[in-house]
Amino acid sequence: MTSINTDKLSSARFAQATDAFVEIFTASVDFDQRMATQDIQGSLAHAKMLLSIHILTENEYQDIVNGLEKIQLEIEQGKFIWSIQQEDVHMNIEARLTELIGVAGKKLHTGRSRNDQVATDIRLYLRQEITVIQQQLKRLQIALLNLAEQEAATIMPGFTHLQVAQPITFGHHLMAWFEMLSRDKERLEDCLKRINIMPLGAAALAGTSYPIDRQMTSDLLGFTRPSNNSLDSVSDRDFAIEFTAAASLIMLHLSRFSEELVLWSSAQFDFIEMPDAFCTGSSIMPQKKNPDVPELVRGKSGRVTGHLMSLLMLMKSQPLAYNKDNQEDKEPLFDTVDTVVNSLRAFADMMPHIQAKKDNMYRAAQQGFATATDLADYLVRKGMAFRDAHEVVGLAVRLGLDTKRDLSELSLSELQKFSPKISDDVFDVLSLEGSVAARQHIGGTAPETVKVAIKTARQILNT
Ligand code: ARG
Repeated sequence: MTSINTDKLSSARFAQATDAFVEIFTASVDFDQRMATQDIQGSLAHAKMLLSIHILTENEYQDIVNGLEKIQLEIEQGKFIWSIQQEDVHMNIEARLTELIGVAGKKLHTGRSRNDQVATDIRLYLRQEITVIQQQLKRLQIALLNLAEQEAATIMPGFTHLQVAQPITFGHHLMAWFEMLSRDKERLEDCLKRINIMPLGAAALAGTSYPIDRQMTSDLLGFTRPSNNSLDSVSDRDFAIEFTAAASLIMLHLSRFSEELVLWSSAQFDFIEMPDAFCTGSSIMPQKKNPDVPELVRGKSGRVTGHLMSLLMLMKSQPLAYNKDNQEDKEPLFDTVDTVVNSLRAFADMMPHIQAKKDNMYRAAQQGFATATDLADYLVRKGMAFRDAHEVVGLAVRLGLDTKRDLSELSLSELQKFSPKISDDVFDVLSLEGSVAARQHIGGTAPETVKVAIKTARQILNT
């Protein structure tokens, strides 16, 4: 009789034991054990379906359920012994099940393969993590709305090319961040539509000869529907790429917020006070208070974009159907989830404690001729063509530069030298308050408009 190596997967096929290094090199259990709960969830649904088509008896099914529940508990209590010999999360759980309940455990894998099993697990995992990310996004959005409400009328300079451009309200700036996050949420929702399709039943690649009821398994697992093509089901990782792309954009947005927070908290801008609890000191320079959290988040954004590139390259040129390459999808995905959840959490925790230094913001808006466009618009309202008005204001700005004064500090007679159309009502538009208040249309920076935008946003968030 041939002796078989019972430790090895598909052992009868092999005359030699796996090389010890190859065993370690090819194993994924160290990281894919993170999907254990989803693996058990998938197995429970598969077993129930096998019972319904009489592949399992009622007793066998009950044994499987009890065994899997025990395993779940062992994992939660940290008592489960993960083994490299069993390669991955799927084989570890199946082996333990057989150890616990005997022959019924060996029947669980009827009509499925690890190829459709792993695809199912990742989808279940991402579906769950997306709800966690959405919760953190919402927390951050609420924090932004609260701060925006408080700062709806706070005037600061708006920038283009990082040069003072026009006065805006701080509330309006914060609402711009809010909009970015709203799109992030929509992207995740959209991506979820394609994640929530069930590959189980595709088996290794060609489906199975058992009369499986895929609709039933899909319903049990809360998927929208079973997938359409068995080959595509086991090889598709588009959904993982889409998710990582959406996550990259979230991180990209956070990196932009971070950059502004870092700038604003510098002595040169001095627009905000960062909460002490989110900053650290320097080991050598006693005066320092460094904005570590935004800096770290800005840095972390790079790794998520890196993961997106890894996944794109992982899938490029892969022939149908499953290839072992795909085992490499997990670490980038898991790290993407951790990075996004933690970064959003740090931001949501920090945002309520950020304090605007209103006087400094106001003073900065007074510099750089931020109301120059308002003066041009004023002249247009008095009948001048915009290009001519642009020219006139350019001359007024030149005088301001030469005499180190803002436009609002020039006298009426000085301004009238540039155009007789200017009268003393000009000072209303040259004030920062007048400038922002005038921008009342949808999407404008006027304090009243910002308050309406906040109110609408709150309604949408609560639905
Ligand atoms: N650990 C594997 C993975 O993550 C599971 C699927 C393995 N299938 C196979 N035929 N080797 O992709």
